[in-house]
Amino acid sequence: MAARRIGLLTSGGDCPGLNAAIRAVVRRGVLGHGFEIVGIEDGTRGLLERRSVTLSPEDLDQGGMDPMLRIGGTVLGSISRTVASAPEQLDAGYRDLELDAIVCIGGDGSLRIIGGHAQQFGWPLVAIPKTIDNDVACTDRAIGFDSAVHTVVRGIDHLRTTGVSHDRVMVLETMGRTAGHLALRAGIAGGADVILLPEVSWTLEGMLDAVQRTRASRRHTFAVIVVAEGVELPAEVELAAGGVGDAVARSIEQVSGGVVEARATVLGHLQRGGPPSPVDVELASAFGVHAIDLVAAGRSGVMAALHGDEIVEVPLGEVITIGARKVDPAGRHVELARALGIYVGED
Ligand code: F6P
Repeated sequence: MAARRIGLLTSGGDCPGLNAAIRAVVRRGVLGHGFEIVGIEDGTRGLLERRSVTLSPEDLDQGGMDPMLRIGGTVLGSISRTVASAPEQLDAGYRDLELDAIVCIGGDGSLRIIGGHAQQFGWPLVAIPKTIDNDVACTDRAIGFDSAVHTVVRGIDHLRTTGVSHDRVMVLETMGRTAGHLALRAGIAGGADVILLPEVSWTLEGMLDAVQRTRASRRHTFAVIVVAEGVELPAEVELAAGGVGDAVARSIEQVSGGVVEARATVLGHLQRGGPPSPVDVELASAFGVHAIDLVAAGRSGVMAALHGDEIVEVPLGEVITIGARKVDPAGRHVELARALGIYVGED
């Protein structure tokens, strides 16, 4: 088969596991299919500026150190938003780089944008889902989510010891945009007492009752509240300068007349950085191999996805049409949290 040049780019917010996916696409693409894998730098911006680098398994391996498996972020860079308004120039870049197809590792927003360009200009495109928010539709999990859950759970562990020591309510605000997957799953695994999500309405009274119950049952009057950044605040909770987590902490102190001490922590980009978990490395590797196999099979407009234990192909159009996947308020994880006595709202 004639050598083919496949462009590979990462787009949107970074997350742990992107480099493992890049490594897998390169190893399988070069060694398995004889492709030339061309890394496009800084997402679609690299297409616009014709900035690319040929990736080889040997270079990525670094003499056996194999850093791509362990290093977070993306060696290709990811700065795409700035070029969303220049689609024709992107197409010119695609042609100047003499690409035959593109593999894009992206989240909900970037897959929508690049999927649109691919359809408009006829680029063969295979997508790989990544995001710590885990809100890409049609896949059970995206690269980066498991690692971020680990980070949030570690955060809860740390807040627990200082919170217990000072008899405080510790509030932890997580990322996740408009989806609460990260807060919910980490809250369950970290043993939170309250989890507040964008998808489930809650009341100040319900939340305070839960905190009170928890504190009454412990020798140390302490509780952990995990708040997703996209949560809606009930009318009686005023937004605070420090964000929704801060607002929840302030409301607890106010209602208790200052008797209960509460502290808020925003984990922020700590959740996006750092090394990937082994589970994410494996998922990224499986997605990478599947994606380049799909390219080799002449598939286009599809995304590698996880369904149960299987890596499958799903139509990218469907992923885009469905949009951000939210927590199911009647789903098994919300049910599990409630069964464990965690307050998740809807009193
Ligand atoms: O989508 C990933 C994410 O980390 C969200 O959870 C968060 O709201 C957002 O990106 C932060 O974006 P930025 O890095 O541009 O501040």
